[in-house]
Amino acid sequence: MNLLARFARYATLVAAAGMTAGLSAQPIDIRHTAPDNTLVRTTADAHYLLLPVEDDAPDMRIDVLDGGAIVHTCYVRLARHAVDYTVPFDLTPYAGRELLFNVIGEEPLRPHQMEKFVCWKALRTADAFDTANREKYRPVYHHTPLYGWMNDPNGMFWKEGVWHLCFQYNPYGSKWQNMTWGHSVSRDLVHWTQEPSVLAPDGLGSVFSGSAAVDAANTAGFGAGAVVALFTSAGKSQVQSLAYSTDGGATFTRYAANPVIVTEHEARDPKIFWNGRLGKWNLILAHALDREMLIYSSPDLKNWRFESAFGRGYGCQKGVWECPDLFELPVRGTQEKKWVLLCDINPGGPFGGSATQYFIGDFDGHRFVCDAHPDETLWMDYGKDHYAAVTWSDAPDNRRTAIAWMSNREYADAVPTLQFRSANTLPRDLELFRLPDGAQHLAVKPAREAERLRRGKTTLPAAALTASPVVCPLPAEADGVCEIELALDFGRARKINLMLSNEAVERVCMTCDLPDPKKRTFAMYRRQSGATDFGLAFPATTVAPMPGAGNKCTLRLFLDRCPVEVFGANGEFAMTNLLFPASPYTSLTSSAEGGAACLEHLTVYPLGTAE
Ligand code: FRU
Repeated sequence: MNLLARFARYATLVAAAGMTAGLSAQPIDIRHTAPDNTLVRTTADAHYLLLPVEDDAPDMRIDVLDGGAIVHTCYVRLARHAVDYTVPFDLTPYAGRELLFNVIGEEPLRPHQMEKFVCWKALRTADAFDTANREKYRPVYHHTPLYGWMNDPNGMFWKEGVWHLCFQYNPYGSKWQNMTWGHSVSRDLVHWTQEPSVLAPDGLGSVFSGSAAVDAANTAGFGAGAVVALFTSAGKSQVQSLAYSTDGGATFTRYAANPVIVTEHEARDPKIFWNGRLGKWNLILAHALDREMLIYSSPDLKNWRFESAFGRGYGCQKGVWECPDLFELPVRGTQEKKWVLLCDINPGGPFGGSATQYFIGDFDGHRFVCDAHPDETLWMDYGKDHYAAVTWSDAPDNRRTAIAWMSNREYADAVPTLQFRSANTLPRDLELFRLPDGAQHLAVKPAREAERLRRGKTTLPAAALTASPVVCPLPAEADGVCEIELALDFGRARKINLMLSNEAVERVCMTCDLPDPKKRTFAMYRRQSGATDFGLAFPATTVAPMPGAGNKCTLRLFLDRCPVEVFGANGEFAMTNLLFPASPYTSLTSSAEGGAACLEHLTVYPLGTAE
């Protein structure tokens, strides 16, 4: 193309960009300099440059240049054929400066292909970015990012009445990329506010999962009460880095001598905790491909000594090991305490894809010794959508509270949401319990703060459960978003069937299978629950053991716009599954097979977050 023609094309694009920019203070200059390279120049007068995204387009690399130096790099699925949504690039750190966005196609592009992308016409600057919650499947009370992709919970600590929840975050799109620590805070574990992100990729790579804790005794020298975070810098290799905050977790500064731990093979997701008995810090790190956990100790969070490894040949070994945690828990009804090691695995979960297994044993600050036979695998949640579970550091009242990412690697980036992807489970309080035969289990219960979400109550009177169904309407005023509590006496029934259904004749079938007390199970079947066609692996049946003595059980079901979490109400089991119905479920139908059971009570609480 000759120079004149090239200029003509450039001039048209400037005009087009100016037109669509609307309120844009500055024109956006766009030059297509090569088939795989476009330069976008603008002055940072507005708050944001809004980047148009097509969810399924390949990533383009964007180097942001200020005065010729690269000040930021991110990967964005710039819209080629249609704009699905926009993401904001924050211009405020560069206020008044002229920035050059060097957009690079890293896959081969045909001549002129890049200049035909629709994104160029839709690029604009703006002072506001709309995060109003309009998506059908956006949960009402589960934590979600305001926009963009989220996976693992990270860097969780409690300080001065505030629960901090960081998370693996892509601020530039609703699929995994640009791993950054997003940051949300809550005073009650159920109302969350997203704050500015705290850690963005740097020269060592993007910011993978990790943990944070309050350094009350100033062991690291950043000040008493500083918050110290350990995380994986994921670049060419995976190494462990440190950052600290002296403003209560609002901002973090990277430690100048990073990395603080290097390993030969891929290792990630460090979890730190103060070990009072040892008078030192401990850290547990996933040796991902070796399918084991590495344990370290340190006097000051900066110098780490390798202590031991646990896990080769233990539990489920069918996938990489990730996101560990290690903590002590009381055994219900005793004075005893045991240590629990959480280990996320992908793939290899009980119903395919990602899931959380755990081990119970003893830990002396140096070595974890598992009580169970290596072949035994225990799962923390028996749904398909529970991964990367970790617990808060420094929680008050000796609470051990966990939260997990509510999705599955098998289809997480294809679920039918757009401006955001993924939510977290409800926070869950943990303890241990023993069955009469001595078997040890983790009890998983929704945090008591979940009761603060209740907005009213309807109780059905006690009823016999037989083959003829008892139908309970779900609260239409809350779009079916509710908690359902059922107290069941199994009576002589062999099976109890529960079914959520809606006007679109979609249904979620659940069954308590009651052959004999040792083999009871709770199962959920979601093949007809609504949209399932976005992932072949999605329509699974999930089954949980229902350990417990006696002939009774209470269940709590938490329904939100897309997830359902079911708990044996003494924490006997948890099951978390995503559901994407065409319209909200409007009723719960209960019945029994093989003999009568009794529905001792069925209470429905509409749930909401408005104070
Ligand atoms: C688990 C995981 C972690 C890693 C992070 C990257 O979901 O793979 O091991 O740190 O996600 O986002």
